[in-house]
Amino acid sequence: MKFDKPATDNPIDRLQVVGQPRDRIDGARKVTGTARYAYEHHDVAANQAYGYVVGAGIAKGRIASIKLDAARKAPGVLAIVTAKEAGKLNKGKRNTARLLAGPEIEHYHQAVALVVAESFEQARAAASLVEIAYAPTKGTFDLKKVKDSGKKPEGDDPSLDDTNVGDFPGAFESAQVKLDQSYTTPDESHAMMEPHATLAAWEGERLTLWTSNQMVAWGVADMAATLGISKDNIRIMSPFIGGGFGGKLFLRSDVLLAALGARAAKRPVKVALQRPLMINNTTHRPATIQRIRIGATREGKITAIGHESWSGDLPGGGPEVAVQQTRLLYAGANRMTAMRLVELDLPEGNAMRAPGEAPGLMALEIAMDEMAEKLSLDPIAFRMLNDTQVDPEKPERPFSMRQLGECFRVGAERFGWSRRQARPGTMRDGHGLIGFGVAAAFRNNIVMKSGARVSLDSQGIVTVETDMTDIGTGSYTIIGQTAAEMLGVDLYKVVVRLGDSAFPVSAGSGGQWGGNSATAGVYAACVKLREAVAQKLGINSGEAVFEGGDVKAGNRSLPLASAAASGPLTAEDTIEYGDLDETHQQSTFGAHFVEVSVDTATAETRIRRMLAVCAAGRILNPKTARSQVIGAMTMGAGAALMEELAVDKRRGFFVNHDLAGYEVPVHADIPHQDVIFLDETDPMSSPMKAKGVGELGICGVGAAIANAIYNATGVRVRDYPITLDKLI
Ligand code: MOS
Repeated sequence: MKFDKPATDNPIDRLQVVGQPRDRIDGARKVTGTARYAYEHHDVAANQAYGYVVGAGIAKGRIASIKLDAARKAPGVLAIVTAKEAGKLNKGKRNTARLLAGPEIEHYHQAVALVVAESFEQARAAASLVEIAYAPTKGTFDLKKVKDSGKKPEGDDPSLDDTNVGDFPGAFESAQVKLDQSYTTPDESHAMMEPHATLAAWEGERLTLWTSNQMVAWGVADMAATLGISKDNIRIMSPFIGGGFGGKLFLRSDVLLAALGARAAKRPVKVALQRPLMINNTTHRPATIQRIRIGATREGKITAIGHESWSGDLPGGGPEVAVQQTRLLYAGANRMTAMRLVELDLPEGNAMRAPGEAPGLMALEIAMDEMAEKLSLDPIAFRMLNDTQVDPEKPERPFSMRQLGECFRVGAERFGWSRRQARPGTMRDGHGLIGFGVAAAFRNNIVMKSGARVSLDSQGIVTVETDMTDIGTGSYTIIGQTAAEMLGVDLYKVVVRLGDSAFPVSAGSGGQWGGNSATAGVYAACVKLREAVAQKLGINSGEAVFEGGDVKAGNRSLPLASAAASGPLTAEDTIEYGDLDETHQQSTFGAHFVEVSVDTATAETRIRRMLAVCAAGRILNPKTARSQVIGAMTMGAGAALMEELAVDKRRGFFVNHDLAGYEVPVHADIPHQDVIFLDETDPMSSPMKAKGVGELGICGVGAAIANAIYNATGVRVRDYPITLDKLI
């Protein structure tokens, strides 16, 4: 189905199942431990062996020698794979560094060997006997130091280009009120609960991989490219994922090494990246240095807005697209954005939940708060003065829907914003200085081609199959709801099967595009199945109403299941998009409100309450969507207050490379969260009229916390995380 005109009324609009706060259909399996994660497929392939990954002990240089004899003789060892044993390997399109290094080392803890043994303990013990001598060379690890060597990012992605509208330097120079500030965000880790893990099994030329991956079709393509084998010979299954946050978008070393280990040992091999290895072996969100300049009239109209961001990555990598929101969020005739990328020899930087906007808004939305103060304007009033219904860089492009103002209005009322005292340090409670902070949330809505297969059997059971993944987001449930609504059956009549490359290729889970796009693909397949059912029953498909397990037309009513009496009916389709997302800017909006208390003696910050108001198209399931948003707000609290990968600038690695040293928020850090979804249906986004929401919740929340801390204390911290030492 081609989606190239705004959506009209369709069966989803009945909202009998879609839009309802249904429990997760996979919930019982998860809480009873019967949902199998990648490392838990104990019974799918006989005679499984265990792999243990050895990571490089230097950040840059070469392996001078590698001695495997002692490890080979260790009890239980079946095989050892290094780059030498593996032979020629290519690099997948989406990988920056090689997944198995040698002799060159590109980053610390880059995998250099896999030891395969009968048991995990034997593999681990033998791995400690692998003797590697390195010849290190000098690397570059300090973003701040080499910032000025940054270059314009290469590549044909237009979002990497500088943007210039009007005369930014002139307008900024002559502005009546100006702000010119720099902000920094640190390297951050996804730190998902389930490590990257894979079970690999070969049958002749055919490779089957049970893994934990957000984008099954990308994984198949990159694995085929890496091994130099046909995509047809690879099957990836990733039905349950214990968190991804972007860290599992791309093929990682566990997948490749499990496959190589299984080939060498002639046995199925499972590999889970050891927790202390994950942070330096896999990807992270790169640190940024951001300079923001805003010029405005005395009344608060922005006349000039500029945002530059510097970040680093390995050679061939990409920048953190931290200027993305500044192109679209506020009006202003003269504007510029630019990103500069420096080469660093730290581990690979890549996407982490809301790449771009998450760190970008952490800077921009403090800058807006600072500017409001200079103008003696309420922070919300200043933002509203500069609201826009069109793309500020291309005024001929309206937003498909933009309810930013309504988010602020509803949020201010619910939060009690009018009780805020503008002067810092004036609100107190016991030993705490109380502060209120606000920030805009913004994240683009990307639409992706997505396919599904739907079938109906003689019992009236509807089965949906698509390679879409559920990374804890609720994909199973909203896909089930979509099929139930389209075919007029109860949700329990729908079986949803996900995460298998044998199924039609979907949008996958990334960039908050999965919810809208994958359900739109299921919608398209259901439209076809409805036609097949109508034809089978001799009903005009234009008249057919699917309801209550029946198909009705005029005064006829037949059980849906009767269409499959002589055998199952199956339909498959893919939603494809025209250029509605070019003629109309599609974005999601929100407002974050935060109250903090900062201890007058210790400067410890405690969040007292958080509120997010979101305008993100139709909310397909308010329960799972709320979980996404509160999870994202929690992650934003981590980014604001505690998360930071500490860089060893001499040796070039992240020092706090496990969950003991990388601090993330716990329940006690998050006392109260509230989420309001504005009523919104966006006919430009898809037949579902939904948009992404999974990443919106992290966007802006860090700045709202920073602004609340400023309101409490009068201390403006521009370097995240805002730890107490920065407030004293
Ligand atoms: Mo998201 S960072 O694209 O999984």
